[in-house]
Amino acid sequence: MTDTRQKQGKSLFIRTYGCQMNVYDSERMAGLLKPLGYSLADAPDGADLVILNTCHIREKAAEKVYSELGRLKKLKADKARQGEAMKIAVAGCVAQAEGPEITARAGYVDMVVGPQAYHRLPELLARAARDDGDILETDFAVDEKFDRLAEREAEGPTAFLTIQEGCDKFCTFCVVPYTRGAEVSRNVDAIVAEARALAAQGVREITLLGQNVNAWASPPPAGEAGDAWGLGELCRHLAKIDGIERIRFTTSHPRDMDDGLIAALGEEEKLMPYLHLPVQAGSDRVLKSMNRGHTAEHYIGLIEKIRSARPDIAISGDFIVGFPGETASDFEETLALVEAVDYSSAYSFKYSRRPGTPGAAMPKQVAEPEKDERLARLQALLERQRQSFNEAQIGKTLPVLFEKTGRHEGQMVGRSPYLQSVHVSASQSMLGSIAPVKIEGITPNALAGVLVKDNEAAA
Ligand code: SAH
Ligand code: SF4
Ligand code: F3S
Repeated sequence: MTDTRQKQGKSLFIRTYGCQMNVYDSERMAGLLKPLGYSLADAPDGADLVILNTCHIREKAAEKVYSELGRLKKLKADKARQGEAMKIAVAGCVAQAEGPEITARAGYVDMVVGPQAYHRLPELLARAARDDGDILETDFAVDEKFDRLAEREAEGPTAFLTIQEGCDKFCTFCVVPYTRGAEVSRNVDAIVAEARALAAQGVREITLLGQNVNAWASPPPAGEAGDAWGLGELCRHLAKIDGIERIRFTTSHPRDMDDGLIAALGEEEKLMPYLHLPVQAGSDRVLKSMNRGHTAEHYIGLIEKIRSARPDIAISGDFIVGFPGETASDFEETLALVEAVDYSSAYSFKYSRRPGTPGAAMPKQVAEPEKDERLARLQALLERQRQSFNEAQIGKTLPVLFEKTGRHEGQMVGRSPYLQSVHVSASQSMLGSIAPVKIEGITPNALAGVLVKDNEAAA
């Protein structure tokens, strides 16, 4: 089949892997390419430009990229047979970590661009159009990146906003300090300008993003005197923007959870009662070997302090099982920590050996079946906690922000303050509004509720 229509614009397909920061970056890449005539397509078939925005965090994540590239190679050849070009770009953390390997293994890739260099995509595209050589751009230029990004277009009532990038913590299992570079904070004025622009387009909830979001620090806004601000002050400041009703932030590190931020969680109503605070393991020996810089007791103490400031807060976490040297009794300590904290939700993973990280070279790597068994036990416990947290909402009336239409006719999907999905019968006109919903039941992955009429809510 040949398409004889004159092409008005060019089509762009972006596939995003990994964390929310990559979701944000993909959105910004699309925004950057729009003035060049690229509009987003739903599938890679026939696209003029395909970008894979990749993740390097675990071995499986990185492998997916190469299998996807294999499929794209065929699509590129199909398009070439029609006399047209498909350019392929690999962006994100695999690009940063394995740039030269990608160009060696997949010669048909046109551009490799790291997470701190994607603002240069327009130039790279121009270069790719001129020659067929490999283009590799993996400098760290965070400040320049944010300065060069185009105006933001909102895509619904919620939005991510990157305020901090990179990591100086060097946990011994993790690639992020190498793929994202050193910790950098954006300045208050740039963040406020982006938040205002989002609010003006109807965004009601912003999620501030950073690999170590609570390490964010910056001088006060232009014209204001005083000491550097931390995340608590930033959240209080953003809460003053008209239209922004909810503020979240992720991911926090226990070492940077300061009193100013805890106080803000207790006092600022627009800050949602949900905190993702990864701990990874419950044994001090393992925590030390992971270079986390805190003990299990310190973490549990922090949780207690946060709960006394905001009693209803939902705590979420990340866990790694089978880190090198983790014994059966170390693992029991992880289970004990989970029991002590009582999580509303959590992510848990088998340790994955990442090239170039200290953990990969450590002795006493844990056997795969052992990791499987520990992961299953941990996940069963976390799942019980998640279900009971969800069950505890039944009968309560929660403010829900309506984010999208549901799968069923007349159904809308929103979020509770605790980040649970809530299914409600409601009209599409509710999109973007926050309304009280009485929770009546739970499904495996969501809450179900009914809209409370104004007079009932007041009663
Ligand atoms: N900056 C955040 C998140 C980093 S990556 C933080 O410090 O918490 C997200 C999660 O992936 C981590 O919290 C960790 O649980 C997991 N992870 C990172 N490296 C891993 C590895 N090598 N194997 C398995 N899980 C890993
Ligand atoms: Fe990785 Fe640790 Fe940094 Fe988080 S704090 S990004 S887990 S090195
Ligand atoms: Fe993955 Fe990079 Fe995010 S490695 S988790 S995409 S910071």
